[in-house]
Amino acid sequence: PRIVCVAGARPNYMKIKPVMDALERRGAEVLLVHTGQHYDASMNDVFFRDLGIRSPDRHLGAGSGSHAQQTGRVMAAFEPLLDEVAPDAVVVVGDINSTLACALVTAKAGPLLAHVEAGLRSRDWTMPEEVNRVATDRVSDYLLAPSADAAANLRSEGYREDQIHVVGNVMIDTLLANLDRARRSDVLARYGLTRGGYGLVTLHRPANVDDPGALRGLLKALGEVAGRCPLLLPVHPRAAERIGELGVPGGVRVVPAAGYLDFIALQDSARLVLTDSGGVQEETTALGVPCVTLRENTERPVTVTEGTNVLAGTDPDRIVATVHRVLDDPPAPRCPALWDGRASERIAQVLLDGGTARTRPRPT
Ligand code: UD1
Repeated sequence: PRIVCVAGARPNYMKIKPVMDALERRGAEVLLVHTGQHYDASMNDVFFRDLGIRSPDRHLGAGSGSHAQQTGRVMAAFEPLLDEVAPDAVVVVGDINSTLACALVTAKAGPLLAHVEAGLRSRDWTMPEEVNRVATDRVSDYLLAPSADAAANLRSEGYREDQIHVVGNVMIDTLLANLDRARRSDVLARYGLTRGGYGLVTLHRPANVDDPGALRGLLKALGEVAGRCPLLLPVHPRAAERIGELGVPGGVRVVPAAGYLDFIALQDSARLVLTDSGGVQEETTALGVPCVTLRENTERPVTVTEGTNVLAGTDPDRIVATVHRVLDDPPAPRCPALWDGRASERIAQVLLDGGTARTRPRPT
């Protein structure tokens, strides 16, 4: 069978890579399509190199823009590609605009659609990613859920049992496969850091970085936290300028966005991580590093119930109090079920057993 795998932005690359490999090991013909949603070298090239992903077979060059512009450009470019390539199935991962765009096109074009990371729900409709998650699941044939709670969400939304497959977490497949290499990174030495001697911060969510009031509050909290534990903040291009405008508090060091192996190494050796990312909540849980999430909700609740994650929200006082609590009494490392490095094998099995030929009608 011929399978199109879609990637568009930084958090997609470590999810699609093990799925491509597992499909190819089982004899599928895989075509990698990059939508071009992320285009900076710091968001792309270093990840392709670190992860050993081949150059995309097709590049759609979508770029940045409003949600509608970005989603629309990906759709318009992906439709003729599907016509030409005529795959048996399309695999989309995660919750970005590219995921939704390619899902909508596939659902009308005919190939089977598989969504990796199905069923995650923050129930926060102000997040563009929540809209993308719900809408992508709705048009997918195969709902590949990372955890039991995600499958439970899908059941409660009325999906058929034969569509839902709890396969585990592909991001952790990639983390485990690369951990030894990451531990050989010299990034700590380069930044003059010692293991357990710093906190790591990531910030990029629009609600946190686009609103100057919200960002000012977060930076104030980071300044106070840095009084107890110095902080390193590798910065997403979206946030770089805005953080620069407001000024960086003492004790917080802003550095360019890190590559995959360096970033895993930075998480692995951190005393704690503060983040508004989804994937970082999962990676810290797998690494057993305390994580304080700078959001009011999470679509990844297993990182709280079965991992090292604590939700702190965005109120500066609450963030500071949460960090003190976590540093005084760090959560015990635990690992959710099926985060075992074999999720992509299970996905390939689901997609290829019996072939990807349509054996059942598209869900209504
Ligand atoms: C996107 C995803 C988000 C994911 C994040 C990871 C959506 C809705 N959001 O958010 O879920 O967590 O990627 O990074 O798809 N920019 C650059 N260079 C780039 C890409 C973006 O400078 O290579 C800047 C541009 O100013 C752009 C802004 O970042 O307008 C936002 O990029 P975009 O892809 O729209 O969303 P992200 O914030 O990256």
